[in-house]
Amino acid sequence: MTTRPADTSTPGPRLRAEKVTLGYDQRVITEGLSVDIPDHSFTVVVGPNACGKSTLLRALARLLKPAQGRVLLDGRAIGTRPAKEVARTLGLLPQSSVAPDGITVSALVARGRYPHQGLLRQWSAEDERIVEESMAATGVAPLAGRRVDELSGGQRQRVWIAMALAQQTPLLLLDEPTTYLDIQHQLDVLDLCAHLHEEGGRTLVAVLHDLNQAARYATHLVAMRDGRIEAQGPPREVITAELVERVFGVRCRIIEDPESGTPLVVPADRRRRGAGAGGLTGGSAAAARPAATPAP
Ligand SMILES: Nc1ncnc2c1ncn2[C@@H]1O[C@H](COP(=O)(O)OP(=O)(O)OP(=O)(O)O)[C@@H](O)[C@H]1O
Ligand SMILES: [Mg+2]
Repeated sequence: MTTRPADTSTPGPRLRAEKVTLGYDQRVITEGLSVDIPDHSFTVVVGPNACGKSTLLRALARLLKPAQGRVLLDGRAIGTRPAKEVARTLGLLPQSSVAPDGITVSALVARGRYPHQGLLRQWSAEDERIVEESMAATGVAPLAGRRVDELSGGQRQRVWIAMALAQQTPLLLLDEPTTYLDIQHQLDVLDLCAHLHEEGGRTLVAVLHDLNQAARYATHLVAMRDGRIEAQGPPREVITAELVERVFGVRCRIIEDPESGTPLVVPADRRRRGAGAGGLTGGSAAAARPAATPAP
């Protein structure tokens, strides 16, 4: 072998954003943001609605081009790399997706195998096996022949996760994978993510709204607000009462989760939160929320 790809010797994590400015049309959502996704981590991104979590994930997945700065995948600017090549390395479950009309569950999950196919590599028994395994892992195997547009919200969400799994990428970005799911299926999905990261060595990034689940599952937690990263690190260090109030505008106590020992966020009682609402230092979400008043 005479040549060696430049990226194999690049230090640092496989996926990083360097001083990216992201936005839509003329609207800037985040400016000069840098973030490293630690290799083999289960990174969880938390933050209020509209703070830019999905925007960041879309940029990390090459779907949104930074106005400034760059996203690096294996040391190379992701925007310069062919889409199919990126899709073999990095998968994204978007926050909401619309399935093609009338498509069945197994056909949609099979689309996860597209990046692995080409002129010389057609559909194989291996692809079939991976599709079946992905459906089994997400509990949608019994739905294989059903139309996706006829499923419940939670069933559909798990089908999309199965499709992302079938892509079998070393990096997997999941935008709110537990939305629509009942508690058992939420835990199943998070356990599956933990398993992929612990046993498979995969790097996962997930946006979650449940801070207590984030604290239990994340190896690396990123807290965002107004397009900026307010804190990042191990959940035990990131989740403090001060951080939760600053980022979400919610007064709370942090106690130890009796099951896992991780931080457990206990919001202050409605009356106590109401009493302090005028002085909250949270973001726009907090400011816009009317102060809770004691019942008459
Ligand atoms: N396609 C788009 N065109 C224009 N503005 C957009 C678009 N997508 C998102 N935005 C705006 O960008 C900002 C950040 O949105 P984003 O979807 O990244 O938030 P988020 O943190 O993922 O919120 P949520 O928790 O509600 O999913 C919001 O103000 C939103 O209105
Ligand atoms: Mg979002």
